[in-house]
Amino acid sequence: MSATIDLSEPKAAARFRPTVPPPLTEPLGLFAFLRAARKNPITTWMDAHFKLPVVAAEGAMGRITLVSDPALIRSVLIEKAENYRKDDLQRRVLAPGLGNGLLSAEGDEWRLQRRTLAPIFNARTVQGFSDAMNAAGARLGRRLARRAGKQVDVALEMTRVTLDVLERTIFTHGLPSDPDALGRAITRFLEAVGPIDPLDVFGVPDFVPRIGRLRARPAGRFFAEVVDELIARRKALMAQGEAPRDLLTLLLAAQDPETGTGLSDLAVKANIVTFIAAGHETTANSLTWTLYCLSQDPAAQARLEAEIDAAGPGGFAVERLPYTRAVIEEAMRLFPPVPFLSRQAVRDDRFGRIKVPRGSLVMVAPWVLHRHQLLWDDPEAFVPERFLPENRDSIARFTYLPFGAGPRVCIGQSFSVQEAVILLAHIVRAVRFHLPADHPPVTPLHRVTLRPEHGLRMEAEGRA
Ligand code: HEM
Repeated sequence: MSATIDLSEPKAAARFRPTVPPPLTEPLGLFAFLRAARKNPITTWMDAHFKLPVVAAEGAMGRITLVSDPALIRSVLIEKAENYRKDDLQRRVLAPGLGNGLLSAEGDEWRLQRRTLAPIFNARTVQGFSDAMNAAGARLGRRLARRAGKQVDVALEMTRVTLDVLERTIFTHGLPSDPDALGRAITRFLEAVGPIDPLDVFGVPDFVPRIGRLRARPAGRFFAEVVDELIARRKALMAQGEAPRDLLTLLLAAQDPETGTGLSDLAVKANIVTFIAAGHETTANSLTWTLYCLSQDPAAQARLEAEIDAAGPGGFAVERLPYTRAVIEEAMRLFPPVPFLSRQAVRDDRFGRIKVPRGSLVMVAPWVLHRHQLLWDDPEAFVPERFLPENRDSIARFTYLPFGAGPRVCIGQSFSVQEAVILLAHIVRAVRFHLPADHPPVTPLHRVTLRPEHGLRMEAEGRA
């Protein structure tokens, strides 16, 4: 089941291999585990997880089964999806901030929302957003070109530009307040709810206050007020037939294809907040990691620049940039923005001889899967060529899952791939980044999404 491609060119030894926390060789005791899980959950994976198709263990959170066998992943996420619902821990962490939006809804409410929202994210609608994405990319390119010769906080710039894209695609007429204020509120919100709270791990009832959630409240309130105001204004424009065709209008006009009913205002609001929360840090982090990998691989950077320069001036079209896309996909293999998916077994099940008791957690972890020794050649090496169209077929299904799979697969997948490719093209047209010698080690921290622990500050070299 290995995804085999020719890794000999450039020489395998010269490949960039990012430094990441090494897997554990011994299990941690309860308190050490909880401390590590709160600080940086990716430090709790064990050597065996990267070598075996399935690992089941009893731990602080009860029984957890990690599945890395592609056939079993297919079974959990697709064939038996009804038996593996999103787990209570995830919902306890996400739902207070996101309301009952698509990411945290379950059962009939989720089915209704998914049916209603699917057309908004289909290929044609998403393609219609490419002008907005190119406009945000060109603006970023100009900003970066002005910073040539200086240091740039790359992680912050990527957060800004992905919010700019969301602002242009959700609210064409802009936000009533400063977009950076919305960005800061989102970051504060994710930081506060991000670390896993031990009270949630042990299933302590929701009426017991969590410090993280209390800290997140003002940011959550800010969100809600801004979005209320935007919905009211947009409804007025729709009534006059003057509304732009952006995500907000599409959400307010969306109808369930089976019943013809629309979403309630509350569901529209929950989904706007969900799109912003689910769509900006993930895409921003995938670009941040991509730029880091490129700064360490001059051959990949040169090949990318050649592709982008050959595309000529003006806006970019994703289908003409296969290497750009491959670079992003390979960076998402090594640094998946969502490092694990978790599910809870509704009824008893078994994977061969391994029992999966009702209520226990089953995980699929892109962080582990994408570096699994049974599934990838030279898994630690950054090799964008793996994802070129001519090699793609050798990547087995269910070995690469940055967007998940099955009924709950990321609804924003094509949106974010198109966005990341267009934005990276504008960045590479404007500047080349170098990591300064005094930069702290660039290592991944898992906080809801996977980001560089000490940020990413790089020197921008202008490209005329
Ligand atoms: C690189 C960028 C992104 C990554 C890596 C990513 C990853 C994921 C993953 C792994 C899931 C599935 C979670 C699970 O099965 O438990 C998911 C779900 C979701 N994503 Fe994304 N996402 C990205 C961008 C976006 C964008 C741009 C949007 C919206 C504009 C978005 C909206 C959603 C929503 C609403 C869901 C829930 C779908 C459902 O449960 O039906 N994501 N995402």
